[in-house]
Amino acid sequence: MLTPNLTVNTEGHLCIGGADTVKLAKTHGTPLYVMDENMIRENCRGYESVIAEEYDGNGLICYASKALSCKELYRIVDSEGLGADVISGGELYTALKAGMSAEKIVMHGNSKSNSELQMAVSRGVGRIVCDNLPELERLDRIAGEAGTVANVMLRIKPGIDAHTHDFVKTGCIDSKFGFALETGEAMAAVKAASLYPNLRLVGLHCHIGSQILDTEPFAEAARVMVAFMDKIRTEIGIVLPELNLGGGPGIRYTEEDDPKPFGEIIRAILAALKESCEKVDFPKPFILFEPGRSIVGGAGLTLYTVMAKKLIPNIRTYVLIDGGMCDNPRYALYHSRYEALIANKASEARSETVTLGGKCCESGDLVGEHMPLQPAAEGDIVAVLATGAYNYSMAMNYNRNPRPEMVMVKDGEARTVIKRETYEDLIRNDL
Ligand code: LLP
Repeated sequence: MLTPNLTVNTEGHLCIGGADTVKLAKTHGTPLYVMDENMIRENCRGYESVIAEEYDGNGLICYASKALSCKELYRIVDSEGLGADVISGGELYTALKAGMSAEKIVMHGNSKSNSELQMAVSRGVGRIVCDNLPELERLDRIAGEAGTVANVMLRIKPGIDAHTHDFVKTGCIDSKFGFALETGEAMAAVKAASLYPNLRLVGLHCHIGSQILDTEPFAEAARVMVAFMDKIRTEIGIVLPELNLGGGPGIRYTEEDDPKPFGEIIRAILAALKESCEKVDFPKPFILFEPGRSIVGGAGLTLYTVMAKKLIPNIRTYVLIDGGMCDNPRYALYHSRYEALIANKASEARSETVTLGGKCCESGDLVGEHMPLQPAAEGDIVAVLATGAYNYSMAMNYNRNPRPEMVMVKDGEARTVIKRETYEDLIRNDL
């Protein structure tokens, strides 16, 4: 099995976290997102223990909630002691409504609106990561108007090619995010930020990309950032106390994937960080990480019902399901690969090779091609694995498809954490 929380019971049904997925599909309907709470919690603890062991606990893990944002997720990570990374007013609103402390929230965005900045300032968000000079100017004014001083980090492009999909690669000079090191833009931004009266520059941020499978690009980013912090000390005389190295550790989507476990990645980063600091006698900064995918990705799966099977001789076999790009647009966007199996035939061999076709009026609405699968028949339940990250959060209502329900499984019991959208929900804002 792809992840250790998946098992097959005596009926030959796929189980996640001890819950029978065929029963879940029957009780809750399909498409259905299923998340495993224990696995999410284990991942949170895994991150925290590395910081405790390797860095004297001098850091904060901020769950990158763009991977999956809903109130229950914030409650879970909060109860594990994590903070959260939010990328919009909507995520910030959800986190606060779930009871997260604003102080543990990091606010991102390359194009934040004034109202988003006002919300962050008035609610006391712990760190606002600024992306560009006009934003610094606006934030200084907004904080001044609110009679407060905002804690700011600057998003830096460290110039690292992280060998991932072009759309999720963010650390290179040709990226819309942040200030470039090579051009002097980053140093100019540090100088500017340090002069605003209503901003407190607490540190730097970088994020080199997502679904990164190896340790070295991360370690290199840490080295580059410490070198830059040292240069800031020399040129401007400021010793920045904090460093946020973003997210990015990859997960197993298919049986061929072999990503380094996130614990190993964080250890390698911290080793590189400590070594770089010692070399130039720079005080070890408070460290932040923003993992998203590696906390929730492997903890989720999606269940669908097979509506039809279409055999095109010598070409391909389509297995048509009652969901698709609306609940998982990642194949349509990135040709991302997934493992699937028939949940009610989980102990049988995956002897066919199929294309999983969605229900949208769009030829590209596929969940995957060339996928091994048990022989499918109408009414079977298909489970697509490792859909916990960037599925629900990227879901959409194309063709006015309501977004699916999400259940959280804990010790074999499931509870609804996001209700299925209704047709009434779809027309709520129509006049
Ligand atoms: N921090 C920042 C500033 C980020 O931009 C991201 C992801 C993260 C943290 C979390 O990265 P993670 O640990 O999840 O890799 N929709 C794409 C992924 C986009 C990621 C964007 N930023 C996908 O489905 O693969």
